[in-house]
Amino acid sequence: MNLNYRTGLLTRAFINLDHLTHNMNLLKELAGNRPLWPAIKANGYGHGAEIIGRHLIRLGYKTLCVAHVPEAIDLVEAGLKATFVVLSATLPENSEYVVAYGCEIVVCTLEMVESLARAASKAGEKVALHLKVDTGMGRIGIRPDQVIEFLEKCGDFPEVYVKGIMSHFPRADEADKAFSQKQIHMFRQVIKASESYGIEVYHFANSAAIFDLPEACFDAARPGISIYGLKPSLTMSNPRVNDLKPVLELKTRITFLKEVPAGTGLSYGHTFYTEKPSLIATIPLGYGDGISRRLSNQLDLLVGGVRCPQVGRICMDQCLVDVTALRGRVKLGDEVVIVGRQGKEEVTVDELAEKLGTINYEIVTHIAERIPRIVV
Ligand SMILES: Cc1ncc(COP(=O)(O)O)c(C=O)c1O
Repeated sequence: MNLNYRTGLLTRAFINLDHLTHNMNLLKELAGNRPLWPAIKANGYGHGAEIIGRHLIRLGYKTLCVAHVPEAIDLVEAGLKATFVVLSATLPENSEYVVAYGCEIVVCTLEMVESLARAASKAGEKVALHLKVDTGMGRIGIRPDQVIEFLEKCGDFPEVYVKGIMSHFPRADEADKAFSQKQIHMFRQVIKASESYGIEVYHFANSAAIFDLPEACFDAARPGISIYGLKPSLTMSNPRVNDLKPVLELKTRITFLKEVPAGTGLSYGHTFYTEKPSLIATIPLGYGDGISRRLSNQLDLLVGGVRCPQVGRICMDQCLVDVTALRGRVKLGDEVVIVGRQGKEEVTVDELAEKLGTINYEIVTHIAERIPRIVV
């Protein structure tokens, strides 16, 4: 008996690895063939970090970015053979793990450098660091004018090796690139000042910069959202963002169908009443799957190639769809598309994001753990 019971879950995320390959090739071209270090943090932006990471390694990518040390550990333990760059700041208590799992970590405090040096010395290893410089993100990083002093102090620790210097863009996805240009200028000055310190990789560009500020690719770029075929924003200048192909489709099945009379209140709080006799489908999808309750009565789902409105409050595990338009053509078990294509219709992650007043990043990273990611 096949005991892969998880695939018995009726709501599934389908992951198209050909589209991932296509997006990587596009990004590689735009980055002028410079090394790409794809970001697979937050479970591969919700797509499944292991699936995405394995495919990237198959494609020849050797360095992958995560946000946190445990994310790297999980992937190493799962057998992914790559160098993991940990992008978020962490605390000295993680240093032993960083060394044991061969991670390269972003640092911006001397406390972290010291504790990494101690852990590396204990293990008889060397540890590679990436120094984060804050050129305007205002999140983590030392100021550009502190770089040389920091590098000098790192020189006191023979177990650490500052392999990279990096920065990050807060506004590269906006139409006006003036602020990003200023950051690039500052970063160039950092490069010049640190010339004699043997830095191997200067890296700055995220997805938005790869499209609109390719001069920021320097020695490597760190694309995230775009590898998944999603646009960094709707205000990108480079028309080639339209060549991205979405990697994820989210689909479920109809588990119940009922005819109800006009004036029937549906789901918690009866936020929706039928105006006419209606055919209502139940689907096993709710906010427990990462579809926000705030989207209640706002979503269009695809059934039989037709846009059908989601009606009533989205519950934790189920919600309702008005399929009256499909009377006589719809049955139990039929496919319902939340994100993706069906026939000539398509619902995009951007559409959901706009309805929720957020960005595509948040929609995909919220897709719940319990939903199986199925490779197509
Ligand atoms: C430091 C850093 N680099 C690169 C990325 C990838 O950014 P994007 O997904 O916009 O390409 C992120 C994502 O937030 C990040 O925090």
